[in-house]
Amino acid sequence: MATVTTLDPKRRKPGSDALDQLVALVADDLVDVNELIVARMHSPVALIPQLAGYLVASGGKRLRPVLTLAAANLCGYKGDRHKPLAACVEFIHTATLLHDDVVDESDLRRGQASANAVFGNKSSVLVGDFLFARAFQVMVEDGSLDVLRILSNASAVIAEGEVLQLTTSNDTETSEEAYLEVIKAKTAELFAAACRIGAVVADRPAAEEEALRSFGLNLGIAFQLVDDVLDYSAAQARLGKTVGDDFREGKITLPVVLAFRRGTDEERAFWRRTMEDMEQQDGDLDHAIELMARHNALRDSVERARHYVSVARDALGLFPASPVKRALLDVLEFVVNRDY
Ligand code: IPE
Ligand code: IPE
Ligand code: MG
Ligand code: MG
Repeated sequence: MATVTTLDPKRRKPGSDALDQLVALVADDLVDVNELIVARMHSPVALIPQLAGYLVASGGKRLRPVLTLAAANLCGYKGDRHKPLAACVEFIHTATLLHDDVVDESDLRRGQASANAVFGNKSSVLVGDFLFARAFQVMVEDGSLDVLRILSNASAVIAEGEVLQLTTSNDTETSEEAYLEVIKAKTAELFAAACRIGAVVADRPAAEEEALRSFGLNLGIAFQLVDDVLDYSAAQARLGKTVGDDFREGKITLPVVLAFRRGTDEERAFWRRTMEDMEQQDGDLDHAIELMARHNALRDSVERARHYVSVARDALGLFPASPVKRALLDVLEFVVNRDY
């Protein structure tokens, strides 16, 4: 995976190459997982591998399957079951992206036109359904009811999170708690499941399984908090998604919640007009970003992410020191400092 290297090492943010380092530790397994992903996307209905392959080939960080592989490694696992299960996790993630881009009407994903923009909404939704179903076939082949329970619960909770999010959209009075409930469900649960599975296949004690679940959950909350900051602050070419999508869609994320609460009456009228009444004009996104800067809304959202990263760090405390533990801890820095 490419990283942008700045010439002055002091200017590089901590964690900027941490993901590469974690990927390097599981590189051999990841080659097999990527092969499994392509092989298991296959269907006699040509549009399925065509559309799914379009999204898979466009890249993506593969963060969730890498976490499954790394968690299994941390638990000393020596078998092969973690590979198809890591592929399952990426299938679930890919299915949610296909559905999410339809719901969010997003036209850019992983630096390319989104699948819905190229193939249409109907195809995207239906191929997303196929990928969910295929993930479950792969889990059944694994045969562990524990794994099936964890990933089927995560899949149901993700869907609940996306539906719950609909009920908070265009509502500027959304509380920080309600926002957190949404992101835990739509994003963090899959990270939790991805990590936990590593302990399950290695047949480790409940305390280790719980530690990995907590690591993944808290990392996942931080990951989405930062995603929601990047939606206002990122360089679009680097992010590979359209900056400002959340604003244009009226999606209420923590930067908006904070700017709204900390704002004047006049500022709150601005947020209501643009994000509730959806009356947006040129310059509104820039003004929204100005208000966020005035009230430190982006900075403090990243501070919240740092809190969850600390919880995730402590969760790994019971594992002995190892290169993979070091790399997992470093990935937490990547999660808060990332720009893509
Ligand atoms: C995007 O996830 C969806 C969110 C939970 C924010 P990623 O940022 O991991 O997407 P890819 O797989 O790297 O494209
Ligand atoms: C994450 O939310 C979506 C899922 C977990 C399915 P976003 O809507 O913020 O994700 P992006 O920004 O489109 O990747
Ligand atoms: Mg989206
Ligand atoms: Mg987003």
